[in-house]
Amino acid sequence: MTLKLISPAKINLFLRVVGRRPDGYHELASLFQTISLVDKIHFNLADNDTMTCTDLSLPLDGSNLVMKAVNLFRRKTGLNFGVRVHLEKNIPSQAGLGGGSSNAATTLWALNQLHNNIATTGDLQTWSAEIGSDIPFFFSHGTAYCTGRGEIVNDLPAPVRKTKVAIFKPAIGLPTPSVYARLRTLTPQDHLTTPSEDLQLFLDDKPRYCNDLEAAAFMEEPALQILKQNLLSFDFDTVLMTGSGSAFFCLGNSNTVPSEPFFQAEFISRSNDEWYQEL
Ligand code: C5P
Repeated sequence: MTLKLISPAKINLFLRVVGRRPDGYHELASLFQTISLVDKIHFNLADNDTMTCTDLSLPLDGSNLVMKAVNLFRRKTGLNFGVRVHLEKNIPSQAGLGGGSSNAATTLWALNQLHNNIATTGDLQTWSAEIGSDIPFFFSHGTAYCTGRGEIVNDLPAPVRKTKVAIFKPAIGLPTPSVYARLRTLTPQDHLTTPSEDLQLFLDDKPRYCNDLEAAAFMEEPALQILKQNLLSFDFDTVLMTGSGSAFFCLGNSNTVPSEPFFQAEFISRSNDEWYQEL
């Protein structure tokens, strides 16, 4: 039996860096949202592990988050199995769109389904934090306020705003650790609101979009700041970097569509006991 699942990208509607932790990670407070820009993954139980991918530039060994998720599931459940995985990649890498994290969460969900739901969704969510800070979010229903390293997930009932979104991915990609490292050389951003107040503003439909990693990303790659200015000239209401970049999400109607790589998407969510479904 082949299990075919979609694996959605995420954006950060706001992302506040609250401080640096003794373990080197940063304390975050961020509103995450899944969107309809998706990868597709096929899973088959098999004698050995094999992985194929439409993007030939991706490593398919144990460093791939899909294979990390397979190993994690085997370790946590004590089950012994092989799996054949085929990944149809559409979500750009090094973009802040959580593509790898989403693939890992989708893999854990799939393996659990293929083993008669031996674990609860809560188990999968807790285990997944061991292999990446952004993975637990995907076990929410698609909209969540995340704190800690990002792994403490407060599920919110539905998309805070049902909005169409345009994703712009520049040719330049950004590695997450380099962007976080730049924070050390920047003075922390001044905010007039606390992260909880920012969340409340979204719940009250008076959103304040902000990303504390944007200045660090611009320092790492100054051309991105010029790109943002260009995007703003298309009359979007909001243009903001997602996660540690380099992709931007754009909200509101623009008069013309920029010509460079650009994806049109919508906010999506999942129902109880179901994975995300294609729109
Ligand atoms: O947890 P994950 O492997 O996704 O994190 C990748 C890198 O991003 C970390 O090694 C760290 O440099 C940075 N990071 C951070 N603070 C976070 C999340 C990630 O400094 N909350």
